[in-house]
Amino acid sequence: MAAPEKTVGFPEHLQAEVETYLVNLRFSEDPTTDGLQEAMRYSLLAPGKRIRPVLALATAAAVGLEPSSVLPLAAAIELIHTYSLIHDDLPAMDDDDTRRGQPTCHRAFGEDVAILAGDGLYAEAFALLLSQQQGEAARVLAAARELAVATGVRGMVGGQYIDVAGTAPAGPEGLRRLHELKTGKLIAASIDCVLLLVGSLKTDTIVSFRAFAGELGVLFQIVDDVLDVTGSTQTLGKPQGSDERLGRRTYVSEFGLEGARKLAAESHERARAHLARAAPGQGTELEQITDFIATRSH
Ligand code: IPE
Ligand code: IPE
Ligand code: MG
Ligand code: MG
Ligand code: MG
Repeated sequence: MAAPEKTVGFPEHLQAEVETYLVNLRFSEDPTTDGLQEAMRYSLLAPGKRIRPVLALATAAAVGLEPSSVLPLAAAIELIHTYSLIHDDLPAMDDDDTRRGQPTCHRAFGEDVAILAGDGLYAEAFALLLSQQQGEAARVLAAARELAVATGVRGMVGGQYIDVAGTAPAGPEGLRRLHELKTGKLIAASIDCVLLLVGSLKTDTIVSFRAFAGELGVLFQIVDDVLDVTGSTQTLGKPQGSDERLGRRTYVSEFGLEGARKLAAESHERARAHLARAAPGQGTELEQITDFIATRSH
């Protein structure tokens, strides 16, 4: 992995589009649920990197769609990601007090409201995708199905279970599987769901995009494991050292810091190679995001 001080470009114009869309989202006008909506927006609008929705917009650009045309899908993915963070931080899970540079949702609103805020974000994500995403109905449904699977037992929630229950098989393959599920599937869905919305791509292109998407998801979590050790609570916006405190199995606990960095660098190379096959000469924003994920310091 490159030196942490190295900074690479990030498609900030796409990030700005996502931010504006998220800020304008409202979930209900009923004043009796204002407190719930406040908690949902508190976590959603805190300064996240927006990597997943930006990936969706950049994928759209790479396959010839107008990036803004996938904003409902992209925002739905960020709602789901935010729900996963709220629940991941709960005392029964990772028991963390800060997230995105502010007190975690349960610290600010109480555990009961935080659980409901996560539940609300998950359901509203599908309401948004299924009511606002333009495109042929069958394609929108295919994207929704992919997102549901990616976040269910065969995806993020299954991975979170394997993480807390410690049921990943021993060895590198078991660890990679954990990372593929708990983080990789939602990152991959940010790309794969856009491919499903387009519908008309060549099989070779789809195969390469899916290989890129899967590798990028694993790379993201290897770097997250490294940053849990090398980052600072202030830069990360979440507590440093959470994995060690919880005795979690990570690329650092398994391979050491240098080993994890080396595996991240190899994963970065593989992701770049898959991307070059998926979108030859036209994946500039996707290349930027890939390099950012590998070299980021937060
Ligand atoms: C953190 O994701 C949770 C993991 C899957 C490791 P991000 O690092 O994308 O968090 P935000 O969205 O920028 O806060
Ligand atoms: C959790 O992984 C991934 C999610 C599905 C939220 P971590 O527990 O490592 O995420 P952080 O480090 O708290 O963001
Ligand atoms: Mg966790
Ligand atoms: Mg955590
Ligand atoms: Mg982590």
